[in-house]
Amino acid sequence: MMKYPIIITLSLCMLNTLADRVTYSFDDSVGLGRHFDGIGGLSGGGATSKLLVNYPEEQRNQILDLLFKPNFGASLDILKVEIGGDAQSTDGTEASHMHNSWDENYERGYEWWLMVEAKKRNPDIKLYALPWAFPGWIGNGTRSPYTNPTQTAMYIIKWIQGAKQYYNLTIDYIGIWNERPYDITYIITLRNMLDNSGLTNVRIVAPDGSWSIASDMFKNATLNAAIDYIGCHYPGTYSTKQAVNTGKQLWASEDYSTFNDNVGGGCWARILNQNYVNGNMTSTISWNLIASYYMNLPFYRDGLMTAVEPWSGNYIIESPIWLTAHTTQFTSVGWKYLRHGSGVGKLNGGGSYVALISPDGKDFTIVIETFSHDHSICIRPPLPKYTVSPQQIMIDLKGSFAGVTQLNTWYSKPSYSTGVEDIFFLKKAPLALTNGQGQLDIGVDEVWTLTTINTGVKGSFPPPPASAEFPLPYSDDFESYMDSQEPSNLAQQTGSYEVFNSTSGDHGKIMRQVVTEQPVSWCSAEKLNVSLSVIGDPQWADLYIECDVRIGNVNNTDGAFIAARVTQGGCQTFEAEGVYFFIFPSTNTIKLSNDLAQTQVVFTGSFTGFKEWNKLSLAVHAKLATAMINGEKVFTQNLTGKANEGFAGLGTSSFGLADFDNLAIMNIDDGLKRMEEIRVKKDTKLYFKPGKF
Ligand SMILES: *[C@@H]1O[C@H](CO)[C@@H](O)[C@H](O)[C@H]1NC(C)=O
Ligand SMILES: *[C@@H]1O[C@H](CO)[C@@H](O)[C@H](O)[C@H]1NC(C)=O
Ligand SMILES: *[C@@H]1O[C@H](CO)[C@@H](O)[C@H](O)[C@H]1NC(C)=O
Ligand SMILES: *[C@@H]1O[C@H](CO)[C@@H](O)[C@H](O)[C@H]1NC(C)=O
Ligand SMILES: *[C@@H]1O[C@H](CO)[C@@H](O)[C@H](O)[C@H]1NC(C)=O
Ligand SMILES: *[C@@H]1O[C@H](CO)[C@@H](O)[C@H](O)[C@H]1NC(C)=O
Ligand SMILES: *[C@@H]1O[C@H](CO)[C@@H](O)[C@H](O)[C@H]1NC(C)=O
Ligand SMILES: *[C@@H]1O[C@H](CO)[C@@H](O)[C@H](O)[C@H]1NC(C)=O
Repeated sequence: MMKYPIIITLSLCMLNTLADRVTYSFDDSVGLGRHFDGIGGLSGGGATSKLLVNYPEEQRNQILDLLFKPNFGASLDILKVEIGGDAQSTDGTEASHMHNSWDENYERGYEWWLMVEAKKRNPDIKLYALPWAFPGWIGNGTRSPYTNPTQTAMYIIKWIQGAKQYYNLTIDYIGIWNERPYDITYIITLRNMLDNSGLTNVRIVAPDGSWSIASDMFKNATLNAAIDYIGCHYPGTYSTKQAVNTGKQLWASEDYSTFNDNVGGGCWARILNQNYVNGNMTSTISWNLIASYYMNLPFYRDGLMTAVEPWSGNYIIESPIWLTAHTTQFTSVGWKYLRHGSGVGKLNGGGSYVALISPDGKDFTIVIETFSHDHSICIRPPLPKYTVSPQQIMIDLKGSFAGVTQLNTWYSKPSYSTGVEDIFFLKKAPLALTNGQGQLDIGVDEVWTLTTINTGVKGSFPPPPASAEFPLPYSDDFESYMDSQEPSNLAQQTGSYEVFNSTSGDHGKIMRQVVTEQPVSWCSAEKLNVSLSVIGDPQWADLYIECDVRIGNVNNTDGAFIAARVTQGGCQTFEAEGVYFFIFPSTNTIKLSNDLAQTQVVFTGSFTGFKEWNKLSLAVHAKLATAMINGEKVFTQNLTGKANEGFAGLGTSSFGLADFDNLAIMNIDDGLKRMEEIRVKKDTKLYFKPGKF
């Protein structure tokens, strides 16, 4: 029992399983491994940074510092962003820079802003861009981006050039089509057109899918030459022999996607090491960068940190931030890994270690992780069982580092038991080395960084404001936005909404749905050709929503709606249920439907009083829905749908232009007062209290 007294402070049960001491040598004299390309975060794919943009500036800057500022927080090396394609790409739609072939605009969405903020904090951060979907005109109606490779490549090149022209941003890496088939001719065309446009510096990552492209790279030398990096998604830390044999750098160009509690942190720390140890991958990119999308949208909180309350300013620094810092604060892009067996490998007692060396050979960093199976499960792929035990290891520095006498030591141990505090990114006493050797006792579920670098910082701020519910009453007249901006808090799920200067009446700025045809989609969200934007709290039950709507007669939609209790977004948007109040002015028709698809219509009526702009009101109270148009009551109906709660929403019944203004959302009591206020004919009873039935 007294053999390892130091362990007692950790846990008694560890004593039984303590492995015999094993020596691990770190030696650059036998040659080096691969070039380190950095750790990144992915904003988009889709709309995952939606709620970040309208945070109060103070908290927003803190969050951006925690993500991007060197030597402070996650200190990311790569920012990957979505090139918006006007289509749902997981948690929302991001706007295209070319909604139509005649349209070009570099003010839309938030990825430009985010890239600028990242570069402000770290001018060396690498930028990587990838489309998920394309607007419908790409491919000339064939619904494929590869029918007309020149057209698609030009569309992508315009985005890259726009980044430079409008934001002085240099895009380092460009992808093909996220998790969709690649096309050899397109990749080669893109390479040629980049080169011919003076963009030789922009390197291609392909295919953002599986490793199997390696087989085509062996068959086609032109393709092989066009691709600089093979990017695989969710590789489960393994690549293929064929991919390794291409000699190209291999990336986990999208990985993680796991709920960001401490098990998510364990997943992240394990793959950051083991993607290299098992799979020779030199970059790992987290989907997503930051969880800034509403609860109840798919993959809630699968980001490095959480920021979902722009109205309160509350945010949460989750474990992946500090587990990233263990690598990023003590390495840089351009460092090299040591070789497997002389600085990279698995620990005998479970866990893994990597070591990296700076290009000038002066600095050196070792990262060790010992996450147990159950505390490091990622969302995909399945993780085979394995065991990890406490272990005593001997670090043995050789080669250039044989003379190092101490290594700075940083330590994390997330807690998986109540009453035990998390330890994140704690600077410990340096590890002393004698003749290059030093002993370390390591437990289970830990990360250790041992480094010659002296500059690590656990950045911190005063606690953010307290968490709060989405504030009601809520209103937006869209007057405060610049043209082309996407309004705050309205999380578009299908279709794309942006602020326009109204061309008629006294509406000033308005919000317009601008997608006029089905996009070249990434998933089936758009299969009904319906657009939907959601807002607020997914647990709202009783609610009042009001909005002015105009359906013009140029490239227009046939109908529009406002809604409550909208049950879902994401790729399943097409099956969202809720309470939808539709208007179809061209046929003087109104509808109440239990679903977005209008397959569960409760009521169809006629209304002849439509004007250019129409003020729609919808009150949803227990099992009753009451609606008005321009202050005229059009129905009170018993609700028959299953949806008891959900977001507020608005949208169009087909793709095509529609304008929205003066959105207001209130709790039901305020809403009923509001309805009485704006009601024009008071001859009938407005509303029957649900208690009466
Ligand atoms: C497809 O569209 C592009 C750009 O609008 C145009 O130049 C080209 O001629 C079209 N091709 C076909 C086959 O229609
Ligand atoms: C554009 O960015 C580069 C760095 O990439 C910088 O050197 C240059 O000064 C910037 N130009 C402007 C006009 O801001
Ligand atoms: C590579 O693929 C392209 C596009 O399919 C084809 O035109 C070219 O001939 C191929 N090159 C080689 C070397 O096989
Ligand atoms: C790739 O990783 C394996 C271990 O999985 C290692 O043995 C090999 O040396 C590595 N090869 C290259 C080229 O990085
Ligand atoms: C909006 O339109 C009005 C009237 O045409 C014009 O005075 C105003 O400058 C426009 N605003 C913007 C931002 O374009
Ligand atoms: C949606 O639009 C596409 C392309 O215009 C069309 O092919 C498809 O039939 C439409 N689907 C529905 C359900 O209207
Ligand atoms: C409507 O579509 C036509 C092309 O079909 C386009 O030229 C025009 O600019 C569009 N108008 C609006 C307001 O989008
Ligand atoms: C709603 O349900 C109540 C109770 O069943 C019934 O009396 C009333 O007529 C219904 N209203 C409508 C509009 O169907």
